[in-house]
Amino acid sequence: MIGVMPRIFVTRKLPGEALGRLADAGHEVDVWNGELPPPRDELLGRTTTAEGLLCLLTDRVDAELLDACPELRAVANMAVGTDNIDLAECAQRGIPVGNTPGVLTEATADLAFALILASARHLIAAAGAVRAGHWRTWEPAGWLGQDVHGATLGIIGLGKIGRAMVRRSEGFGMRLLHHDRTSGMSLDTVLADSDFVSIHCPLTEQTRGLIGERELRQMKPTATLVNTARGEIVDPRALATALREGWIAGAALDVTDPEPLAPDDPLLQAPNLIVLPHIGSASHATREAMADLAVDNLIAALAGRAMPNPVGES
Ligand code: GLV
Repeated sequence: MIGVMPRIFVTRKLPGEALGRLADAGHEVDVWNGELPPPRDELLGRTTTAEGLLCLLTDRVDAELLDACPELRAVANMAVGTDNIDLAECAQRGIPVGNTPGVLTEATADLAFALILASARHLIAAAGAVRAGHWRTWEPAGWLGQDVHGATLGIIGLGKIGRAMVRRSEGFGMRLLHHDRTSGMSLDTVLADSDFVSIHCPLTEQTRGLIGERELRQMKPTATLVNTARGEIVDPRALATALREGWIAGAALDVTDPEPLAPDDPLLQAPNLIVLPHIGSASHATREAMADLAVDNLIAALAGRAMPNPVGES
């Protein structure tokens, strides 16, 4: 192999200078230049000789893909979540997987908090009404929402992003409840007692469908559900019914099941719902830092060193 440059497939153009560092480190880099993720056949075809894969949460890395790239020695996901990757298959083949924790914590918590405020005070609908020419006067009983200051925030999943939410809530004088695998209260108590429930756990077999009809019915009719984690944690049909029938007051989602959500998806017909296109980490600085971390993971693994952020040890 001496003299042969390790070949890397990157599934999308990345912000910042990170990809240049791969070339500087002597790697032959093949970047998918499409605006959308590579279609499956392209992903399978372009990775056949790859030793490194830099992928996104939109790329499924499973046994079929791993079979198609026998030379693969490292997978770097430009995301903190790794539910798009079959970690057991990678482990079985001795292929290390890296992710990008830490650098997106604050940006994602910023967005979750923005969703709490936007939903509580009807920001999106009110701004839309102004643009549509429906602002007639100051109304004593118009656009009434929920107070965020002093309210009870229930956090599901007290990892890095959950803890960043705790810090933000302190500035708003909120009361804090949390539910986590290893600490906090029961999920039922958090759901029943919170004015805002914000989801920050990873998607795993334990959290898939965690919030369904039974759970939504436990929430207060004045409460808001915020999800910036993964869409599959919340049952979209149950959520649509909860919003239509007033089991809860509102929901704000940065993640959905599926993604993207089709414009005619029935969930979008539900009232008091904000949906964003999965932009939790989408600030210039954060996305550049994520790309840098993903590249660091790949460079280290292909040089035979431990990844700075191996999955399972972050
Ligand atoms: C985004 O959702 C991520 O997992 O980084």
